[in-house]
This record gives sequence, structure tokens and C-alpha cells, in this order.
Amino acid sequence: MQGIITGYSSGIGEAICKKLESKGIEVIKLKSRLNRVDKVEEEIKEITKKHNISFLINSAGIGIFEPLETISTKKIKEIIDINLLAPIILTKLLLPSLKKNKGTLINISSIEAIKASKYSSVYSASKAAIRHFSHSLFEEVRKSEVKVCSINPDLTNTPFFKNNNLKFQPKQQEAYYIDPQEIAQIVWMILTTKSVISDITIRPKKVGVEKR
Ligand SMILES: NC(=O)c1ccc[n+]([C@@H]2O[C@H](COP(=O)([O-])OP(=O)(O)OC[C@H]3O[C@@H](n4cnc5c(N)ncnc54)[C@H](OP(=O)(O)O)[C@@H]3O)[C@@H](O)[C@H]2O)c1
Repeated sequence: MQGIITGYSSGIGEAICKKLESKGIEVIKLKSRLNRVDKVEEEIKEITKKHNISFLINSAGIGIFEPLETISTKKIKEIIDINLLAPIILTKLLLPSLKKNKGTLINISSIEAIKASKYSSVYSASKAAIRHFSHSLFEEVRKSEVKVCSINPDLTNTPFFKNNNLKFQPKQQEAYYIDPQEIAQIVWMILTTKSVISDITIRPKKVGVEKR
């Protein structure tokens, strides 16, 4: 099995890569950041010439948790580009391969796609949109036996909070966060289950954040 992952260098994406590679799966780590769509198109063309891609995992993502009025227009566009536009375009480009191989698309959405939180409007909008994109696309491609899943994690213990300069992080006690390896385990289950697991929400046992 060969597939592509975004956001492989850190957190959830990194854990997924390690898990799949430990199972002997070839994971192609997509380097391009989606600032030039034509460049990504070229890169995907090259990859699909050489590899038989049967899964795409969109894990790259950024977050911001601030009042809407304080978020710059540039930042809003960046969040929508990375969290929503990039996975949609990558999916479109790889759909012929996924159809040919009866493959799997996995989008890492968020609990913020499901619940409403203060100061999360832009991030939540991007995550709710990619979740709904996943569900709608599934209806379109199920006749080709392509599996589509949205994973919606709650607070996960990754560098996400540091990487995005957030003022909070999950409480650093086991019951308060998801281990990214648990999400990697779920990805393995989605890939190897014959039927379609279309939506998974995973939450820590307890709820609580602390200042960072
Ligand atoms: N941690 C949480 O609590 C949590 C909860 C729910 C959902 N999520 C979602 O899970 C996904 C992975 O997050 P994580 O926790 O693993 O965070 P992370 O450790 O910060 O990793 C995020 C990845 O996103 C990529 N990325 C960052 N900035 C980017 C940019 N400007 N352009 C393109 N890619 C960029 C990076 O990939 P490269 O450097 O490899 O390109 C990085 O590896 C994200 O979509 C996030 O929204 C996280």
C-alpha cells in the first residue's frame, strides 16, 4: 500500500507516519505548502506517475483562538487556505488514483467542527467545512468504493499549541489529552477495515486546559 500524508513533520501527522511505516506501508510525505497550486499539481503528477497512491491523509493544519475582530484578514485567509483549500485541492488531484485503487481519504478535522467554542470561529469554520466536505464527497465517490473519513480529535498532546503560539494547552496529565499515537491507531483501523468508518470523534476522559 502506498499513500500520501501532509503535516508529517509534527504531532498527529508524524505519529501516523511512524505507525504506517511500522506496518510496512510506504508513506509519501508531501513537502509542498499550498502557496502555488500549479506547483502542487506538478508534484502530484510526478508522484502519481511513479506510485500507486491508495490513500491520502490530510493532517497539516494551523489554529488560532482569538476574537474575530482581532484576527487579520491575511491570517483568516491563511487558515482557510491551509485547513480547507489545500486538502480540497489535493483530494481533487488524487481522486483518480483513489478511485482506481478503491482507496481511502482521511481528513483530520477537529472537535471544533462539532461543538461551538468562544474565540474559535475561523478555525471552527475551516474544520466544520472540511468535515462536511468529507461526508458530501463520500456520497459522490462511494460508487467507486472509495472510503472517506473525517477524524475529529479533541485536545491532543502535540506541538500544535506551541507551533501556533496559543496561550493554552491541554492539562499535562494523561486523562486530559489524547495521545497522537491513539489517532495513528485509529487511522490504521480506518485503512484496514473493509467497511467505511466515515466519522470518528475522539475525546480525552477529562476536560481541562492550562496556561502555556
Ligand atoms: N493538537 C490538537 O489538539 C488538535 C485537535 C484537533 C485537531 N487537530 C488538527 O490536527 C492536525 C494536526 O495537528 P497537530 O496537533 O499535529 O499540530 P502540529 O504538531 O502543529 O502539526 C501541524 C502540521 O501542519 C503543518 N503546517 C503547519 N503550518 C503549515 C503551513 N503554513 N502550511 C502547510 N502546512 C503547515 C506542518 O506540517 P509540515 O511542516 O510537515 O508541512 C505540521 O507538521 C491539524 O489539522 C489540527 O488542526 C489538532
